[in-house]
Amino acid sequence: MEKKNIDWANLGFGYVRTDKRFVSNYKDGAWDDGVLTEDDTVTISECAGVLQYAQTVFEGLKAYTTEDGHIVCFRPDLNASRLADSCRRLEMPVFPEDKFVEAVVQTVQANEGYVPPYGSGATLYIRPYMFGSNPVIGVKPANEYQFRIFTTPVGPYFKGGARPITIRVSDFDRAAPHGTGHIKAGLNYAMSLHAIVDAHNKGFDENMYLDAATRTKVEETGGANFLFVTKDNKVVTPKSDSILPSITRRSLMIVAKEYLGLEVEEREVYLEELGDFAECGLCGTAAVISPVGKIVDHGKEICFASGMEQMGPITQKLYDTLTGIQMGRLEAPEGWIKVIR
Ligand code: PLP
Ligand code: COI
Repeated sequence: MEKKNIDWANLGFGYVRTDKRFVSNYKDGAWDDGVLTEDDTVTISECAGVLQYAQTVFEGLKAYTTEDGHIVCFRPDLNASRLADSCRRLEMPVFPEDKFVEAVVQTVQANEGYVPPYGSGATLYIRPYMFGSNPVIGVKPANEYQFRIFTTPVGPYFKGGARPITIRVSDFDRAAPHGTGHIKAGLNYAMSLHAIVDAHNKGFDENMYLDAATRTKVEETGGANFLFVTKDNKVVTPKSDSILPSITRRSLMIVAKEYLGLEVEEREVYLEELGDFAECGLCGTAAVISPVGKIVDHGKEICFASGMEQMGPITQKLYDTLTGIQMGRLEAPEGWIKVIR
């Protein structure tokens, strides 16, 4: 398929309508086979479960063009199983995990012209999601659902790409203990909108959320997990039951250990120890690894030695190795790369 005429290098993280999307409906206790359609609109009841009680979950992954010209995606089986976990928590039917991966493959193949070329700096973002579609007025789960996947070519999540960002410690909480922070539910993002608008208005790129119970421990941002690097090059990531189990972060911990020979640690990270770290980064599908240069805690600035101009050296190595695996420059661990074409 011929590539679309898109200025790949200048894409931001936005929505571009592509040709086809996958749609499957759940009714009477079963999913239908699903189809690819050109129709980018959704028509549902005014009283649909998603509109009244936010019964919706989603995923995010990317398709990459590799150095040798294949199109691949990264660990889609983990997105399938995390979506299933999200569905179970919100009393939604699970979309079969093997069918999820097949539907991702079909949707990317149908939009091949939108997969950014190798070396362009852009990728094809894939957004699977599910919502309750039939009328629900008492507070209860819907009994009909729609599962969809669309794709959109994207550039960097943060303007400026790999330049370090400045974040602030948020006074708003993202997730309660025993709540829904560990799943990818739309409601977790709705509640973060006021905090992100307020952060942007005050000149910050993102919010650092703390644990809601004690407000002493680092959780995550609105859309990415944290990685820290100690002065002796150990990679540390916060452990918490109320953060999203990032596929990027779980992969990076393996990359750090197996490819770079670094020590890694998943543990509780305290706000008061942040000044002891040498580097800080945000990791996720959209964020890839975005370096953090400065954290502002109510006027107190925590500045990392790596500065505001470039990524720290360990963050850079992690970034190069992960993207090297995703773009086919480095051999991937067994099962990490799903070849689409
Ligand atoms: N944390 C939150 C709140 C997110 O929305 C995301 C994005 O998916 C992540 C972390 C990173 O997860 P992943 O690496 O699986 O994309
Ligand atoms: C992703 O990285 O896929 C996400 O869903 C994060 C979102 C804030 C764009």
